[in-house]
Amino acid sequence: MEMQGNVVLITGGASGLGAATARLIAQRGDKAVLADMNEVEGVELARVVRREFVKCDVNQEADAQRAIDTALSLGTLRGLVNCAGIASASKTVGRDGPHRSICFRR
Ligand SMILES: NC(=O)c1ccc[n+]([C@@H]2O[C@H](COP(=O)([O-])OP(=O)(O)OC[C@H]3O[C@@H](n4cnc5c(N)ncnc54)[C@H](O)[C@@H]3O)[C@@H](O)[C@H]2O)c1
Repeated sequence: MEMQGNVVLITGGASGLGAATARLIAQRGDKAVLADMNEVEGVELARVVRREFVKCDVNQEADAQRAIDTALSLGTLRGLVNCAGIASASKTVGRDGPHRSICFRR
């Protein structure tokens, strides 16, 4: 996908999938805005990739609006990558049966 010079907002951009996406977007010359609750990691990554960081809890409308406003201030907002979330690792099927979140009731 050709996205050079565009603005992309990345939620959860301070870590994991979001941080990897931010690095890739920065390498390609696009303008990434990292929106994350984790200010320490987010500010550091934004410094390294020379992009913007906005402290943001995606559950808070005002925070999300601030992240969008920051992105719009940099140019045309063309992309949104949603990586904000809390990962809980677990076996799909273990000795005690399937993972709770995929155990459907009949
Ligand atoms: N890594 C995987 O293999 C994988 C696979 C399937 C799904 N997922 C899902 O993708 C998402 C990201 O995974 P990851 O491995 O990059 O996790 P991660 O923990 O490395 O990164 C998640 C980021 O989201 C931020 N965050 C959490 N809640 C937030 C909120 N309310 N507002 C703003 N930021 C918030 C955290 O501060 C963190 O920086 C998770 O929801 C995870 O469950 C991950």
